[in-house]
This record gives sequence, C-alpha cells and structure tokens, in this order.
Amino acid sequence: MTSTIPVIAIDGPTASGKGTVAQRAAQALGFHYLDSGSLYRLVALVALNQEILLDDEPRLTAVAATLDVRFEGEHILLSGSDVAHAIRHERVGMAASKLSVLGGVRQALLQRQRDFCQLPGLVADGRDMGSVVFPDAGLKIFLTASAEIRAERRHKQLINKGNGANLTDVLRDIMDRDARDSSRAVAPLKHHSDSMLLDTSHLTIDDAVAFVVRAYRSSEPRH
Ligand code: DC
Repeated sequence: MTSTIPVIAIDGPTASGKGTVAQRAAQALGFHYLDSGSLYRLVALVALNQEILLDDEPRLTAVAATLDVRFEGEHILLSGSDVAHAIRHERVGMAASKLSVLGGVRQALLQRQRDFCQLPGLVADGRDMGSVVFPDAGLKIFLTASAEIRAERRHKQLINKGNGANLTDVLRDIMDRDARDSSRAVAPLKHHSDSMLLDTSHLTIDDAVAFVVRAYRSSEPRH
C-alpha cells in the first residue's frame, strides 16, 4: 500500500447502498473502485459450485489464494466466464457472509484488495476497508441505514428484477447477515471512531454521493 495514493474507505452493512454510493463517488472523482464483497462472493460461488463446505478453511483459503479473476468494467471474469450476475444471488451473498468469518480466507484476499490501490486514487467498499485493508485511508466512512429501510430497498430491487420476495423474509435475512458480519472474531463490521457516520435512511443516492465527494474534497490537504 502506498500512503500517497488517496483512498476513501466506505464500510457498512448489507443493502446499505454503499456499493452504489462508492461506485458513483469513484466515477465523480475519476478514481478506481474496489467492491471487496465481490471477492468474498467469488470464493462463495466456487464453494457452492464445487460443494465445498462453508467452514472448510483450508480448501476455501486455497480457493481464495488462487482465484483466477479479472475485473473488466461491468464484467467479472472468473476463469474466463462472466459471473457478474451469478455472484449477486442471495444464496451466494449468504454463503459469502458465512465463509468470510474464516481468517485464512480473509488473509488470502488481503493483497489482492490492496493491489487496487493505484493512482489517481481508490474508493473501496466493504466491511473492513478502513480497519484492516486500508488503515491509512485519508477518508473513512461508515455508511448505514436502518435494517427496516435496507429491507424495503432490497425488497423493491428483488421485485423489480422479477424475483418474488417477502418483506419479512428479506428483513430476517438482513438481520441475520448483520449479526454474523458484526459478531465474527476476525475484522467484524463496526463503526470505528476514526470514520464518519453517514446514515442514508432518509437520503437519496445523489445526496449520499455528494456527501462523500464533499468530505473527500475537504480532507484533501491531508493527502
Ligand atoms: O458487500 P457484500 O454484501 O457484497 O458482501 C458479501 C459478504 O462478504 C458480506 O456479508 C460479508 C463479506 N465481506 C467481508 O467480510 N468483508 C468485506 N470487506 C466485504 C464483504
């Protein structure tokens, strides 16, 4: 990691909108973008396809260490096949949440994430961007929204995609995922005191992006 390269670390719970906000902030600033959750989702997809148990740390660590992945715009090529849509399925997200408690998997993905840190800068989103992967980031944001509002947003997305979904089930899944991501021993999701809190419960995406860009510009002299 090179501390002269600006990094904006955006962490937060599932369905908080941090991915969209981080991606749009990266576009606005002309920075690179890292969706770190996609790496955990890729390991999960391989695990599901190869029927690897989600607590088999040695095998999953080996998968994480040897992922043959290329990010090309909207496309995510895993061993040459585009899996950008496949990794977005709920069951892949849930599997990713389960295997992300494994220290070996996290360690195996660490350098791969740091390799995204290139000029002119990086916006990275995940659960431990500010605490573990980019501890020297010039700007750290904890982006969240209430579980109920996140469930409503996720529910709307699923309905729009033509997937039947029940709001109560979506809320329960979100709360399960929050509990697991926040209570794990390694790199738990948490609002650390060195990050700014951005609650998007009553904000539009545009408002949230503007907040991040403004916060970065006002922190710039420190880079
Ligand atoms: O952000 P996401 O929903 O795509 O992430 C999927 C899972 O991956 C999430 O439930 C926990 C895990 N994850 C993680 O442990 N650390 C990260 N930096 C990003 C994701």
